[in-house]
Order: sequence, then C-alpha cells, then structure tokens
Amino acid sequence: MDRPLLRVEQLGVRFRTPEGETVHAVRDVSFEMGSGETLALVGESGSGKSVTALALARLLPPSAEWHSGDVWVEGRSVRTMGARELLGLRGGTIGYIFQEPSESLNPVMTAGAQIQEALYVHRRFRGSAARAEGLRLMQKVGLPDPERCWGAWPHELSGGMQQRVMIAIALACRPKLLVADEPTTALDVTIQAQILELLAHLQRELGMAILLITHNLALVAHTARRVLVMYAGRVVESGPTRQVLNQPKHPYTRLLMRAVPRLRGGLNGSPNNGGFPANRTESATGGCAFYPRCPIAAPICSEREPEEVGEGERTVRCRFWK
Ligand SMILES: Nc1ncnc2c1ncn2[C@@H]1O[C@H](COP(=O)(O)OP(=O)(O)OP(=O)(O)O)[C@@H](O)[C@H]1O
Ligand SMILES: [Mg+2]
Repeated sequence: MDRPLLRVEQLGVRFRTPEGETVHAVRDVSFEMGSGETLALVGESGSGKSVTALALARLLPPSAEWHSGDVWVEGRSVRTMGARELLGLRGGTIGYIFQEPSESLNPVMTAGAQIQEALYVHRRFRGSAARAEGLRLMQKVGLPDPERCWGAWPHELSGGMQQRVMIAIALACRPKLLVADEPTTALDVTIQAQILELLAHLQRELGMAILLITHNLALVAHTARRVLVMYAGRVVESGPTRQVLNQPKHPYTRLLMRAVPRLRGGLNGSPNNGGFPANRTESATGGCAFYPRCPIAAPICSEREPEEVGEGERTVRCRFWK
C-alpha cells in the first residue's frame, strides 16, 4: 500500500477524571487500512475501541486529550486539520453508524426527512432530486416499501429498520470509510446477521472500507479480513482474522475465544465472562495491563510492559506468546 486510506500512528488519548486521575483510554495504537478493506476492532468494554474510532474524524469529547500520535486519512493529518477540511472529512470521507439507532435518529423528524437532510448537507441535493436519491438509498439498504418508510417516524420502525435508516444516512455522504461501532449489538440475533450481510454487500458494491467495532469475536469471523484485538487501550494482537482466530497468540485473545462457545454455532458470544475488566490502576502501572488476569504471567510481566513483536502481518504484545 503506497498511500493507505487510513493510517493511525501511535495514537494516544487520555482523560482526566474529576478526581484528578488520568485514564489512558488509548495507548500507542497503530494500524493501516486500504481502500475497500474490512478491519475489525475487538475487545471488551472499556478497551478503547470507540475512543479510537472517534479520533479518526477528531470527534473526541472535549474532556479527551489527544496526547500522542496522529491519524492520516489519504495522507492528510487529522490532528492538525483545519476546521473546513475537517468538515469535508466528516461529511465526505468517513461515515459513522453506532450501536443505538434509536438514540442517533432524531425522534421528531421522519426517516425520509433525515436522509434528505444528510443529502442536502453533504451533497447539496434539494427537492425532488433529494427525494429520488433518498428513496434509492432506502432501497439500497433494504428498507421494504421505501415510499412508506419515507414518511415514518423513528418510533414506528423496528430496531433493524432504524439501523438501516442510519446506514442510509451514513451512505448519503458516500464515505470511503464506514465506521460501524457495535452496529448490531442492540439488535436481535437474526437481525444482526442481516445487517452484517447488508454491510458486506454494500462494501462490495460501493468499494468502501469498513472498520467494524465489536466485542463479539464470532461476528468478525465471516466479516473482516484482518482483526485488531484491544485490551486496556492497547492493541495486544493483530493479524489476518483466520490466523488470529485459529491460532490466537495473546493470552487475552485466547480468553476471548473461550468466551465464544462455538464460533460457527452462532453470533452471540459473551464478551466479558473471563474475569474482571482492566481498570485504571492496572493500565497506569509499568507492567503488562493483562498481568492480573493472565494465566501464564511471570513476575517480570508486572514490572515491565512487553514490546510488540511482529511476524509478517501478525503482531502480538506478550513475551510468552509462543
Ligand atoms: N468522556 C469520557 N470521559 C472519561 N473517560 C472516558 C470517556 N470516554 C471514554 N472514557 C474512558 O476511556 C476508556 C475507553 O473507552 P471506550 O469508550 O473507547 O471503550 P470501548 O472499547 O468502546 O467500550 P464499549 O465496548 O463499552 O463501547 C474507558 O476506560 C472509558 O472509561
Ligand atoms: Mg464503545
């Protein structure tokens, strides 16, 4: 890849709590994505997935401090981007869908009006052209009877249909990268599968890249070519999905795998039943953040953080990965 669509380089983001504590939400995260690629970001609650995703378009909350590294989108630095260019980035290059479509949709605007608004803001479509393009997008995302859905209020739509409206809104800006942050977590299992199929289909048709964020390893097996596993703000393992799932090297990835009863059996693995989650104090110490939960830890692990080691496309941050 000479100039990747996205390059994240040693990204570090932290928060200061009201008690004066520092939370290292994302530490030293680096990865690249090419056009049209699907990459999955996996890890339990609080591991830094959403903060990483928001940094891509500089959408971090005001309390966040971007303290290291940068994000490059088509060769341009997001950290230093001016306001105008940033608007272009958010409205034309990167689109987002989130976990709770009901919270992202405006309850007092019809589905059609919200798609129409996105088409106006991002592409200056008006009037009948906007309606025609909006209906086409509704069809594309598999909404049944677009004419009827156009005038529907969000509360009249099911969760799956609401998420399809959100995807149509995201597609209105014709993103090169769609960030899907837990897009199916709030949905029923069968609907989850349909939404993932839709995303895969849209990706093939439109050639957009997808960053799929999930705590559910089972979801990535059929969806993403590569996977990054995050723990306590760090990427602890990465590589081609099949290799990582078939031969996890990091003890945390192995734990995650055990939380998925049978990878091919269903889509509903539970993310967090392997023990207590990483907390702030752990991530602030000098040792490996996974040390307190690690079944293969040695005393050195509590003292010094392991380096990332790499072999081809695979990386792992553990001294005892073999
Ligand atoms: N606005 C905020 N203020 C303070 N701390 C925050 C804020 N947003 C996130 N954090 C902290 O940053 C860390 C990473 O959070 P993040 O939301 O990225 O996790 P996540 O991996 O997306 O989790 P989930 O699976 O629950 O969505 C957590 O420790 C979280 O408490
Ligand atoms: Mg999140």
